Amino acid sequence: MRISFDKPAQASNGVAVVFATAGGKLTPSAEKLDKKTGGAVQRAIKASHFKGDADQFLKIWTPAGTRLEAVMVMGLGKPEALTDLQAQKTGGLIYANTRRAKSGTVNVAVDPVDGGKLPANELAAQMGYGALLRSYRFGKYRTKEKDSAKPILKSIKFGCPGHLNARRSYNVLGKIADGVFFTRDLVSEPPNILYPESLANEAKKLEKLGVKVEILTAARMKRLGMGALLGVAQGSVREARMVVMQWNGAPKRGKSEGSRADAPIAFLGKGVTFDTGGISIKPAAGMEDMKWDMGGAGVVIGLMRALAGRKAKANVVGVVGLVENMPGGNAQRPGDIVTSMSGQTIEVLNTDAEGRLVLADALWYCKERFKPKFMVNLATLTGAIIVSLADQYAGLFSNNDTLSGRLTKAGEAVDEKLWRMPIGDGYDRMIDSDAADMKNIGGRGGGSITAAQFLHRFVGKTPWAHLDIAGVTWSKKDAPTVPKGGTAFGVRLLDRLVKDHYESK
Ligand code: BES
Ligand code: MN
Ligand code: ZN
Repeated sequence: MRISFDKPAQASNGVAVVFATAGGKLTPSAEKLDKKTGGAVQRAIKASHFKGDADQFLKIWTPAGTRLEAVMVMGLGKPEALTDLQAQKTGGLIYANTRRAKSGTVNVAVDPVDGGKLPANELAAQMGYGALLRSYRFGKYRTKEKDSAKPILKSIKFGCPGHLNARRSYNVLGKIADGVFFTRDLVSEPPNILYPESLANEAKKLEKLGVKVEILTAARMKRLGMGALLGVAQGSVREARMVVMQWNGAPKRGKSEGSRADAPIAFLGKGVTFDTGGISIKPAAGMEDMKWDMGGAGVVIGLMRALAGRKAKANVVGVVGLVENMPGGNAQRPGDIVTSMSGQTIEVLNTDAEGRLVLADALWYCKERFKPKFMVNLATLTGAIIVSLADQYAGLFSNNDTLSGRLTKAGEAVDEKLWRMPIGDGYDRMIDSDAADMKNIGGRGGGSITAAQFLHRFVGKTPWAHLDIAGVTWSKKDAPTVPKGGTAFGVRLLDRLVKDHYESK
């Protein structure tokens, strides 16, 4: 689908989209269209429940006096509440309600909104971004889909004052969407196609954008002593990989300023390309969901694409640990004791608590090699976080209040919300083991917290945050800018974190 921006103009074909604010007040373009159609717009408003509330809309088919397929009046709600997020949602709804428009063309007239905070060009850019995000589909394996289910829409044109600025702003947002789509693609791929080696190859494609990508083989990880990660991988015929991505976008500094300032920030992801549970095998029902147990890694890869795509002025490292967790003759057993790269030993009491084992070595490796300013890891780590927060928030666990605060704010700004959960010594003791330095599961209570506590043992003094995204990585229903399926939750959030706090001006 093509999204474009042009000077204000009245639409002569396709679907014409105009706006009303709360109370049903028409914008100037809507007024004009009302006149042109002999008052059809006002009549339709009176006859319906449409009040111009955000997320409300009204459609008038083939209004007399025009050659339009339809007029769609979208509600914007109260002008003072019209944020970039609200504009994105509106854009998403425009797409969702015109995707089958027979003419294939939508023209959106964006006027300045009285009493609103955002200029028309920014509203248009944000609407375009929202429409684009909603238009995502993963259809590559559907060879017999009925035409009646496929989108027809070819183009959305926004007409607004300052359209060149709208275009410029949209082009940057489009790079973030590229990252989001990359993540959604990766998370949607089936596990026979996407496994550690093939996922690493996908990450390698970021080199085209100037990202440095290194792939660590299992042999290499063995030499590095990554016994925790490799223990998970050993039951699978698919060999483990670790991918290290570096985007060095910060302007070079003079030597006198020292090297500390140039330390990168780091994002890490759990990349279990399929989680059967291993010997502690999962029940059959719903096991197919575990193809998206690489969601954390998918987000880190998509994030690197977004940052490189928009040439973020920051030095960023991405590390993903990729394994398949399978039962088998060589699989790890409950009771095994493995030695992590940190030297700490782990008693594996449940082979289904594998994500923390993968991240333990990834976090340690990242900390030792890069000495980053902070590490943020993402993982579909526990079912328990879904019990706590459902699909409304991802769990946030951290040893650092500043980092936590910034993450929470960034999440609110992009509507990927985080809820901070506690960590502490009492919880830490729950993973002490009699046989080794720690065990990989706690007791019955606080399953997400003991998992976080486990990761905490591998970050040293580095400021760190863990996002448990098990409840938000996949969605069963459409939302305005997120169609059902892989959500890419985390890409927009972390891009925003970088933009707000870690880019040189
Ligand atoms: N990948 C799962 C967590 C998960 C469950 C993600 C459901 C998404 C939906 C993780 O590896 C796991 O199996 N965790 C166990 C831990 C337990 C054995 C301590 C869990 O949550 O049951
Ligand atoms: Mn598991
Ligand atoms: Zn898992």
